[in-house]
Amino acid sequence: MKLGFIGIGKIAKAVVEGFCTSNLKDLEIYLSPRNHENSTALSHRFPNVEKTTSNQDVVDKADIVFLCMKPDLIRDELKSLSFKSHHEIISFIPFLEHQQLIQSIYPAKTASRAIPLPSVVNHNCPIPVFGNGKQASDIFEFIGQPLKLTNEEELHGIWTLTGFISPYYDLMECMSKWATEHNVDTEVANQYVADLFQSLAFAAQKSKNLDFKELSWHAATPNGLNEQASKDIKEAGVWDIYRNTCDLIMNRIENKK
Ligand SMILES: NC(=O)c1ccc[n+]([C@@H]2O[C@H](COP(=O)([O-])OP(=O)(O)OC[C@H]3O[C@@H](n4cnc5c(N)ncnc54)[C@H](OP(=O)(O)O)[C@@H]3O)[C@@H](O)[C@H]2O)c1
Repeated sequence: MKLGFIGIGKIAKAVVEGFCTSNLKDLEIYLSPRNHENSTALSHRFPNVEKTTSNQDVVDKADIVFLCMKPDLIRDELKSLSFKSHHEIISFIPFLEHQQLIQSIYPAKTASRAIPLPSVVNHNCPIPVFGNGKQASDIFEFIGQPLKLTNEEELHGIWTLTGFISPYYDLMECMSKWATEHNVDTEVANQYVADLFQSLAFAAQKSKNLDFKELSWHAATPNGLNEQASKDIKEAGVWDIYRNTCDLIMNRIENKK
């Protein structure tokens, strides 16, 4: 399988690393020369990875081409590239809709939009996929858990949620820091917070009929600590802020900025 990557920044580096440490057989990977540091490092680390001389060289050598550049640069770049009908394209770009993507890759006709995250290096990452690409979901099985979506609105809704990774870690940081200010050793606090959240997410994944409200209710003893925290946070309007932030992010995705 010949994979090509255009734009070797944070996400392409993680995806290449994910594939190269997976069980995917007969793998050849071709990288764009930019980012120079990342493509050089990856080609030195993995024998089946080659740093090419240009983006067109990537297209010419690969069958599946991943677009991993910033949204403001990709449109011009696509105008300068020549694809062939056998090419399949996988785009990680948030603001380039499927129809525009298909128009930009002619005579190639198959393209998917996907949202991998840097955790693909651990082969543990949900990867939403939308489009008419034939191989995207199958190859993402090697680096995560592909989630096939049936319409683009759904993809945009999910893309909005990916904006909450930093706030999630911010919450962990806030809790851990508070604990260290109250006599808990920093390492103990950090480890406890990471393990606590992992165990709660694991329990939710394993529950038969996943219902977050039910899980929250189940954890709250009447007059207990969870009931109090849940009530105080709700009354402070925290969930309204979260919903409002979701609206603002979705707005950016739909207005392509
Ligand atoms: N990071 C994530 O977790 C994530 C997840 C899903 C989707 N995405 C999307 O994936 C895309 C890339 O994100 P990123 O976080 O990896 O960004 P990034 O780290 O800034 O990587 C973008 C790369 O594109 C390279 N580049 C710029 N112009 C180029 C050109 N003409 N030809 C080839 N490469 C060029 C840059 O190289 P130079 O350094 O030389 O300028 C840079 O290394 C974005 O559209 C982002 O929204 C990111």
